[in-house]
Formats: sequence, structure tokens, C-alpha cells
Amino acid sequence: MKQAREQWTSKIGFILAAAGSAVGLGAVWRLPYVAGTNGGGAFFLIFLLFTLLLGTSLLLAEFIIGRKTQKDPISAFKELAPNSSWYLIGVLGVISCCLILSFYSVVGGWIVTYLLRSIFGGLTGRSSEEYSELFASIISNPWEVGAAHLVFIIITILVVQNGIQKGIERASTIMMPLLFIIFLLLVVRAVTLDGAMEGISFFLLPDFSQVTGETILFALGQAFFSLSLGVSIMITYSSYLSKQDSLIHSAGSVVGLGILISFLAGLAIFPGVFAFGLQPDEGPSLIFTVLPAVFSEIAFGGLFLSLFLMLLLFATLTSAFSLLEIVVTTAAKNNKQLRKKTAWIAGLAVFLLGIPSNLSFGLLADWDVFGDIFFNQIDFLVSNVLLPLGALLISIFVPLKMKKAELKNELLSGSSLHSRYFSTWYFLLKYVTPIAIAAAMLNVLGVL
Ligand code: PHE
Repeated sequence: MKQAREQWTSKIGFILAAAGSAVGLGAVWRLPYVAGTNGGGAFFLIFLLFTLLLGTSLLLAEFIIGRKTQKDPISAFKELAPNSSWYLIGVLGVISCCLILSFYSVVGGWIVTYLLRSIFGGLTGRSSEEYSELFASIISNPWEVGAAHLVFIIITILVVQNGIQKGIERASTIMMPLLFIIFLLLVVRAVTLDGAMEGISFFLLPDFSQVTGETILFALGQAFFSLSLGVSIMITYSSYLSKQDSLIHSAGSVVGLGILISFLAGLAIFPGVFAFGLQPDEGPSLIFTVLPAVFSEIAFGGLFLSLFLMLLLFATLTSAFSLLEIVVTTAAKNNKQLRKKTAWIAGLAVFLLGIPSNLSFGLLADWDVFGDIFFNQIDFLVSNVLLPLGALLISIFVPLKMKKAELKNELLSGSSLHSRYFSTWYFLLKYVTPIAIAAAMLNVLGVL
């Protein structure tokens, strides 16, 4: 029997779930440390520009494909371009999502462990060097991070198996507003620290003397990563959207929320780093080693640290839901029983796939995979190759394979906006986006 396809119960439910996918480790963990090593304010400004121009136009392109076809990504490309190989963009998306989730859930596990330690004591009252040692000892302990990694995956499976309305939408509508409130609390605490001004100006005053070709590339990658673009996730989420909803308004809200959280993340982190004389270019460990040290120095630091970790766990989980959802939708289509089974099988398979990433900081630390540890190589492959490749292919596919009138209709349906918006979007997608991505990718590969 054919079962009816689910839809989001409300437009706000969709926006919060899509924003939940977008806002995750990218905004809270990656942006502060990449900005910290790439000149602060100037990086943030370029990231904003890429997000607004290229990110938004790609997001709309994915929304159009999803809402128009109301299908999982592989079937969507098959419907739009029958008897061709374009459906491989969907296949690429599913593979990329499994790979992202495999290392994303490892970092999710670190957050679970940190959160438990912060609640049960033992995470406060140390110096920043002691926190670095603690972090290194935690992530190299296979049993602790292994168990935490499994817990993180199981939470993800439990939510995704319940489907769109009862699972992802319900969880996101609770978690996202809570995340926002906790973040506001943290920002108020951070910007009122003595000496916070130096951190605020590092983050907000651009110093263009620090900008190199690499800064621009990282900013482009960051813009796509933090909007979950190029891996067909936004195609999947918008396929559950009704025809009455305005895509432009939804995209505006998702991008706006993404930027807001990135902005709040910087404001929550940099004032503390500078106020306590720490270094902003600490690297990926920034939030795990510097923040506990910062929190130890302030009143109620233990409480604030637990709140922060909870927030980070929520943000990471809502992104993980989207990564698993795309695999489950593709395999189970609209079949509810099959959905449960696939969620468990796919989730546990991704857990196994993540084990080498998990052990990269301990048992497998000496395993050299083309010059780096496994975790970093998977991250590199996904962020610098697969994700921009998917984005590039989508920006070529849409203007090439879909009729202009059809696109205009889908983009403007449900909204009262002028068709001028369509022309601007079309120009950005057809010309600016593919050229910018191709230039960035060739540069990463050392060709340009
Ligand atoms: N957008 C997520 C984040 O910023 C990461 C992500 C990338 C999720 C690609 C899904 C797909 O953390």
C-alpha cells in the first residue's frame, strides 16, 4: 500500500529544522577557530559576503529541486533529467552525508563526554595547559570516546526513526529556540568580562592585511559547510514542504539564523579568549581547551560551561539528524516500517565507518594516511572536495536542465516578490557561483 508522504506541520517547523541542519559544529566550533587563524574580522566579513551571495543562491536552487519534485534526491534528479547520469549528484550527496556523519558523530561524542564531565564535576578549576592535556587524554581514550560516539549516534537514530513531524520537527522546535536563549546568556556574560573589548574588535574590525588566497578559500568552504549545501540535504528537507510556502522567505530565515548564530558564537568566544590572555589561533581544540579555562575564571563558570556544552550538543544533533535523514529517505522512501529499520542499519553502519576517525587521536594516531591522520583526511575529502563538487554540479544542473519559466514559477510561488529577484538569483547561480567554486577548488588542489 502506498503511504502518504509526510510534510512539515508548519513553515516555522521547516525553517527551524533547516536552520538546525545549518547551525552546528560549523558555526560554533569551526568558524571561531578558522576565523581565529585567518585574521578575525576580515575573515568573518568575507564569509558573510559568500554566505549572502553564493550560499543563498545555492540554497534556493536546492529548495527548488526538492519542493518541485517532492522526492528524495536520487529520485528527484531522475525525474528532472530522465535517462541521464545527473542522478549521480544525489548518490554523491548520500555518500558525502555518510562520510560527514562518520566524523561529525565523533566530535558529537567528545561533546557528550565533556557535558557529562562538566555535570558530574572535574572540568573546572584547571589552567589552560591542563585543559589541553585533559582534552588530549580524553580523545585518545578509546573506551570513553567510543561509548560517547555510540551514545551520540543512538540519539540521532532514535529521533530520525520517528520521521519528519514526530522526530526531526518536534526535536528542532524545542532545541533551536533553547539554543538561541543559552547563546544570548553566554554572550551577555562574555561581553561584560573585563577586557572583553579586545576580543570584540578582533572579531568585528576587519584587518585586510591578514587576507590571503587561502583566507578567501576557507571563507567559501565555511559558507557552504555551515549552510549544509552541496550534499542534497536542503533538497531532502524542502521535499517535505508544501507548495504554499515561500521559498525566498524560508531561505532568508535560514541564512539569517545561520549568520546570527555565527555572530553570537564569535561574540561568546573571542572576548573570553582575549580577556584571559589566551590565543585565538589555538586551532580545532579552541572551544574544548580554551573555553573550559575561560569558564573556570568566571562566577558560576561550571554552570555556564554545562549550558554551553548542552547548546553545542543540540546544535550538533540537529545537523546530525539531517545527515542521517537523507540516507533514510533515499532508502526507505515513504515506508514507515522500513524507515525505522533503515535508520538503525544506516546509523550503526555510519558508527562503524566512524571508528577509524575516532581512533585517529589514540590507537591509530601513528597511522599515516597520505601524510595526515585518518580523521583529518576524511574531513579534507568532504569539505574541500566532495562538498564543493556537489555544490558546483547543482549550480550547473539547475540552469542547464530546468526551464527558466519553471524555475521562476517555483521560486516565486507562495511569495509576492517581484520577478527582479528571479533575474538576480538566476545570474548569481548560473555565472557567479560555478566560477567562484571552480576557482576555489582548483586553488585547493594547487592548480590555480
Ligand atoms: N551545517 C553543519 C554545521 O555547520 C554541517 C553540515 C554540513 C551538515 C553539510 C550537513 C551537511 O555544522
